[in-house]
Amino acid sequence: MNARGKIGPHPNPPPQAGEGEERGTPLSLPPLAGEEPAPEALLIGGARRADGGESGHIDWIKIRADFPILTRKVHGKPLIYLDSANTSQRPRQVIEAVDRFYREHNANVSRAVHQLGEEATAIYEGARDQLAAFLGANHRDEIVMTSGTTMATNLVAYSYLLPRLKPGDAVLVTRMEHHADIVPWQLICKLTGAHIKVAPINESGELIVEKFIDALTPEVKFAGVVHVSNVLGTINPVKELARECRKRGIPLLVDGSQAAPHLPLDVKAIGCDFYCVTGHKMCGPTGTGALWARRELLDAMPPFFGGGEMIRTVSFDGTTFADVPHKFEAGTPNAAGFAGLAAAVDYLQGIGMANIAAREHELLDYAMPRLEAIPGLRIFGTAPHKAAVISFLIDGVHAHDLATLLDQEGVAVRSGHHCAHPLMQFYGVPATCRASLAFWNTEAEIDAFVDAIGRVRKLLA
Ligand SMILES: Cc1ncc(COP(=O)(O)O)c(C=O)c1O
Repeated sequence: MNARGKIGPHPNPPPQAGEGEERGTPLSLPPLAGEEPAPEALLIGGARRADGGESGHIDWIKIRADFPILTRKVHGKPLIYLDSANTSQRPRQVIEAVDRFYREHNANVSRAVHQLGEEATAIYEGARDQLAAFLGANHRDEIVMTSGTTMATNLVAYSYLLPRLKPGDAVLVTRMEHHADIVPWQLICKLTGAHIKVAPINESGELIVEKFIDALTPEVKFAGVVHVSNVLGTINPVKELARECRKRGIPLLVDGSQAAPHLPLDVKAIGCDFYCVTGHKMCGPTGTGALWARRELLDAMPPFFGGGEMIRTVSFDGTTFADVPHKFEAGTPNAAGFAGLAAAVDYLQGIGMANIAAREHELLDYAMPRLEAIPGLRIFGTAPHKAAVISFLIDGVHAHDLATLLDQEGVAVRSGHHCAHPLMQFYGVPATCRASLAFWNTEAEIDAFVDAIGRVRKLLA
């Protein structure tokens, strides 16, 4: 039975469950970074591509029509949604998959032997297969289903780091991390007497890679790096960073929240140890996400939450736990959400991640010079390897005022610190406005956005 959503007539049909040589293969250690011919351009090069990704042959307007919300008006104006880095919009295939779960298959997973229970479990476990294939995992058991990236980093913090850190140890992060990749480590450092070290960035918003490598000193026992910055759009060279960490025996967690919706991914080729994704930024429902980790790390980690579903036996003398990944999935999961996330992964793969990356790069190339031409507009994050995220400010205008006036024009952008206080401190600003593009946006929307900024500037001048 395939209870997941069927997706529309996209050019590259998604792989079906069971296809693909990775899935179901016996467990083996991943190759060292560099052993496999990694498609470097895919991983760090954005979308000007040597990878076959292109956008010309795809009917993007037809794809846009999959997103019901994009037809609505806001303040009497057509909605121009430029806030995908905050949360993406959902295509009807995802909405229908969630709806279908509740209408046709709703039951608790892994508990009931009745038909609905089996269907719900098949849908939930099918989502794990989808995520494993999407991320290039060696095995489906390396995927822990979480409520998102924040839960994934906290799981790693409490289950992996807490038992290992001691006074004097350090955790290395970069200046451009999201709070989800700072605060959990800080909490553990506080409990253990370890400390945080920070690798610097330059004015363009690029990680200074040599400094990151220099910072990998013996007291560093763990490192966390964002793959794509949610503020700057910078695409970090995670494969190179993973190689350097691995040489020194330092586990590396990559926060892929902003990469998974936009770039082809292969955790084996990256060579990291942990990788986190969040469903709501990749066209899936809120409250879904995943932690990928190397199997031997998951095996060595104690459970984080205790309760139903994660045990083998329980008595008042003690409990034995289920195997990975179930020992990390206590309680009733968001099964309907994962039905939606499976449909989202199908949907993205149906278009093709390289094609999505290419289209978004086109949109970025279209938007950047038009924004740069606006007098008094400053862009934060001008790295050459950059995803379609544009943070900006206009001289003398507060980010919130700008975002509020743009909203009156129907344009949804985010204003604020973007859960990246240390990055705001680096640039000496309390907040920025951020326009984040997705493959369903159009050049016409970018023109309308640029015109709206022009009108707002005049109003505030
Ligand atoms: C880079 C990055 N990391 C982590 C998160 C947090 O993810 P979640 O919403 O799944 O907790 C976000 C969300 O804004 C993000 O952009």
